[in-house]
Amino acid sequence: MNLTTPHINRLVVIGLGLIGGSLAAAAKKRNLCNQVIGLARRESVCQKAVQLDVVDSAYLSIDKITPPLGKGDLIFIAVPTLSVKRILQDLKGKVSDDVVITDGASVKGSVRDNVIDVFGQEMPNIVLGHPIAGSEQSGVEASNPELYEQHRVILTPHAGNTQYAVELTRDLWLKVGAEVLTMGVDDHDAILAATSHLPHVIAFSLVDTLAHDSQNENIFRYAAGGFRDFTRIASSDAIMWRDIMLANKKSVLDSIDLFTANLQRLRSYIAEENEKEITGVFTRAKVARDRFTKMLSNQAYSKTMSEKNIIYKVAPGGSVKGQIRVPGDKSISHRSIMLGSLAEGVTHVEGFLEGEDALATLQAFRDMGVVIEGPVEGRVTINGVGLKGLEKPAGALYVGNSGTSMRLLAGILAGQDFDAELTGDISLSNRPMNRVANPLREMGVIVETEENGRPPLKIKRGSAIKAIDYQMPMASAQVKSCILLAGLYADGETKVSEPAPTRDHTERMLRGFGYDVKREGDTISLTSGGKLTATNIDIPADISSATFFMVAAAIAPGSDITLTHVGINPTRIGVINILRLMGADITLSNEREVGGEPVADIRVQYAPLKGINIPEDQVPLAIDEFPALFVAAACAEGKTVLTGAEELRVKETDRIQAMADGLTTLGIQCEPTPDGIVVTGGEMNGGTVESFHDHRIAMSFTVAALRANAPITVNNCANVATSFPNFTELAKSVGISLEVNIS
Ligand code: S3P
Repeated sequence: MNLTTPHINRLVVIGLGLIGGSLAAAAKKRNLCNQVIGLARRESVCQKAVQLDVVDSAYLSIDKITPPLGKGDLIFIAVPTLSVKRILQDLKGKVSDDVVITDGASVKGSVRDNVIDVFGQEMPNIVLGHPIAGSEQSGVEASNPELYEQHRVILTPHAGNTQYAVELTRDLWLKVGAEVLTMGVDDHDAILAATSHLPHVIAFSLVDTLAHDSQNENIFRYAAGGFRDFTRIASSDAIMWRDIMLANKKSVLDSIDLFTANLQRLRSYIAEENEKEITGVFTRAKVARDRFTKMLSNQAYSKTMSEKNIIYKVAPGGSVKGQIRVPGDKSISHRSIMLGSLAEGVTHVEGFLEGEDALATLQAFRDMGVVIEGPVEGRVTINGVGLKGLEKPAGALYVGNSGTSMRLLAGILAGQDFDAELTGDISLSNRPMNRVANPLREMGVIVETEENGRPPLKIKRGSAIKAIDYQMPMASAQVKSCILLAGLYADGETKVSEPAPTRDHTERMLRGFGYDVKREGDTISLTSGGKLTATNIDIPADISSATFFMVAAAIAPGSDITLTHVGINPTRIGVINILRLMGADITLSNEREVGGEPVADIRVQYAPLKGINIPEDQVPLAIDEFPALFVAAACAEGKTVLTGAEELRVKETDRIQAMADGLTTLGIQCEPTPDGIVVTGGEMNGGTVESFHDHRIAMSFTVAALRANAPITVNNCANVATSFPNFTELAKSVGISLEVNIS
């Protein structure tokens, strides 16, 4: 045991209902105190509490406790909110200031006022708190020693509390399994009004409304699951909830007013048969609720999904066979949402990638008021708002792991009449953003970043945006796209020159939306003042996702795989060119154009690979494919040398180092260089490798197992969901023996 942990001598629980009884029972079961004592108003409750082993002893009055309470003892007041004052009056003069007092009332402002009324001030030994663990059950019989496991307890200490009092209280809650949060009294009451008190008001009121209806018998008889789910909390303790509403009157009234105004607005949408706005309300609500459900099912009280270690364990050997379609192209999915939102009219998208990155972009536009339906099986409908129709989001736009979302959105936000902030996860928060911030600054936009140009990005509208002629220092489609998108709002012609060709989906899609984009040599330009006209978009399968299966077939003897409907945009086919140079057997068939993007079916049959010097002009055309190509190099005969690829060091992780580390663990000889790597093909062992939370590293090592002589375990694979949510299912379907474990 930690010796500095405060220790409770006697725990006195006043009020032996669900909340008090459960804490007493939890403390007793876990042996947290020398004695657990209950106080109740009725003898029968005291007897029951002892009988049920909820407390060691129980009394009707505090005077019965001997010796009197003192240092090391803790009182937990667990009576209805409006009864707390009576208890405080009772305690005054009877317990010394050494006794720590806490409570469990649902409203904190009223209890704070009670303390001041009774004691003349906030007290150093009184720490207010609120366990968020109620249920519609009540009474000592409902006491449950596990009630607080993985539930939140909010403490609202004040500046004058002793550290001892706060620690003793916090420690008790932690030891019964709760997660303890701290916040101010007023914040607590406002949050609880919105998340708990308002739902109770609505449930009570709805059931009361229907109960008064002359048809109520029928209504209740035929009421389906929705009614039952929605109104469950209307059978909560009526008096307790009445008191909570009165104790938190101001915040509850504010919440009711906000809700009433929104309900009125929804009423008018329905009256006007305004399908778009009704869809907007319902889709936003659905997304929010789905996210919440996911949080709950992941027990996100403590950990989010990406904090969990998802481990792939892949059996060695085997081959891949079959015909599959991998999910939609990530780059095109992002752009479909962006341009669809900025267009005039309704855009229908098919083949949208339902991965976390593209969904982050979708959510960002919902947050800016765009009504977007779906995605449902890759179909998305975007009700465009026009170039100037975005609304200021309520808070920062969170784009998770997605560099494309952040950099392209920066360009779009530069043209808006509101200030905005872009934030991301830990990996994204370490990626360079000056590459977009600097050219935007040249355009007259105020962009603030953290040190060294790291996110969050704060984009503030300065004066009008100036059109610029920008020579990109690095070959980056994200930077190019950012500037072109900002150029839609600039004063004249914006030009971007690229040092080497990079993916041109932005240019192609802008043209698809009817916007004139010119290309002369390595310079792309557009002039502001035009508009985007809604269109339909069919997104091909992502060649970057197909790559893992192309490499799988290229390295595993006996393989023969066909990947259908894959985008083969000339700015993306470096992987095909490089694998062919290494000797891979790749055939394209069924070549056609879909919505401005070329697509084909790609067949790869096993053939032995040899090491090559990768031509530098292929590097930007295969930039996301190198982790998988390094695996191909490890399985090739001889050395493969990559140069001119320093950009790999600033992807979701440093992909040169991450792959070198993992391949070395597997017994492959690698020499990383500042701008590339030398990989010498050879026998591959099994082992445990790190993905460094990078989706492409995780998938690359998964396919590597096909050529390993023992199992490969890949750590931290949760982010595979950013680009390839059904990777493991497809991998298994073509013959990779893969087990997914979560720790
Ligand atoms: C992307 C461009 C590339 C690529 C990224 C997607 C895009 O990044 O690595 O996965 O959609 O524009 P850079 O522009 O940084 O090369």
